[in-house]
Amino acid sequence: MIFTPRAAWADTPEPVRTAVADALGSPITGHADLHGGMSPGPAVCLRLADGRRVFVKAVSAEVRAHNHAMILQEAWILDTLPPSVPAPRRLATVEHGPWVALATTWAGGSAGELWTDTSIEAVAHACRTASGHRAPDTLPPVAERIFHFDGWARMLENRAGGDWEAAHAGPAATVVAGWERWTAGDALVHRDLRLDNTAVQAADGSAVLLDWAYASAGAPWIDLAQLAADVVATGHVLGPEVATDRAHRLVEGLPPDASRFVVGLAGMWCIRAATVPDTPVMPRISAWRRARSVALRPLVARLITDLTAAGQHSQHSQAG
Ligand SMILES: Nc1ncnc2c1ncn2[C@@H]1O[C@H](COP(=O)(O)OP(=O)(O)O)[C@@H](O)[C@H]1O
Ligand SMILES: [Mg+2]
Repeated sequence: MIFTPRAAWADTPEPVRTAVADALGSPITGHADLHGGMSPGPAVCLRLADGRRVFVKAVSAEVRAHNHAMILQEAWILDTLPPSVPAPRRLATVEHGPWVALATTWAGGSAGELWTDTSIEAVAHACRTASGHRAPDTLPPVAERIFHFDGWARMLENRAGGDWEAAHAGPAATVVAGWERWTAGDALVHRDLRLDNTAVQAADGSAVLLDWAYASAGAPWIDLAQLAADVVATGHVLGPEVATDRAHRLVEGLPPDASRFVVGLAGMWCIRAATVPDTPVMPRISAWRRARSVALRPLVARLITDLTAAGQHSQHSQAG
């Protein structure tokens, strides 16, 4: 699904394109625009005269300052990641006037439009590999990279949403409360796990995680929990019920806080859809967020039930 229209590489100012080729040390002989992702600047596969294929994304701060800052942030984060993390490697960063461009190694393969059991398995493996690393000291705590996790509490206060939200926002807010504490940890967290931020290699079933701007230090299950949420929110080739089932299986094997995280993400999409308007550069974002929060309803309801039952059980055993 294309949620943000991206500019074409050919429309990037010529001095920026030349500066990228200079920084890479080889002229550009061909390119193919990419259409996934969340930012308005170009993302492109470049073919170089020396035979290499590289990935480049670029944006002008005049188009969207946030993405300009995120590209610079990702550039230094990529340099801090140990080579055993399944991530692209930074090749060059170019700043030219209001423009910034980041070139990385090409991660072949494709994630497709919807999750499959194969891509879930490949990406889950990549998440476990990444979170098996201690976060580099320069990365911030994940609480600084989590936004709108008070979504359910705000939905409740504002009486926003429909009948489903009215019935579930209260228990959901209770489940998410205290998230700054229970998401903390020292594992490497990607924090923006979505199908379009992965590259799955069909040949060997491995995956590379892309788009590292939100990497941080936190609990080791966070990316798997976010994967579970995305399987439902982006969708599975076998349909919504299978997506919910696969997501539930993923979180079942994790600590209960992972289920709380999924509920928190759903609240984030819900409150953002209700309160953050579309903009000219992101013209479909609120419908996209709304669709994600709606798709997650069955999973959220199931997780609240699981967590409530587990809470009653532990209170009961403490009392006994
Ligand atoms: N190293 C890479 N190799 C191949 N394709 C990539 C690479 N990095 C990103 N992509 C593709 O380009 C798209 C946009 O890149 P991404 O880094 O996710 O940008 P954005 O910040 O705009 O989301 C991704 O959704 C993915 O399809
Ligand atoms: Mg992306």
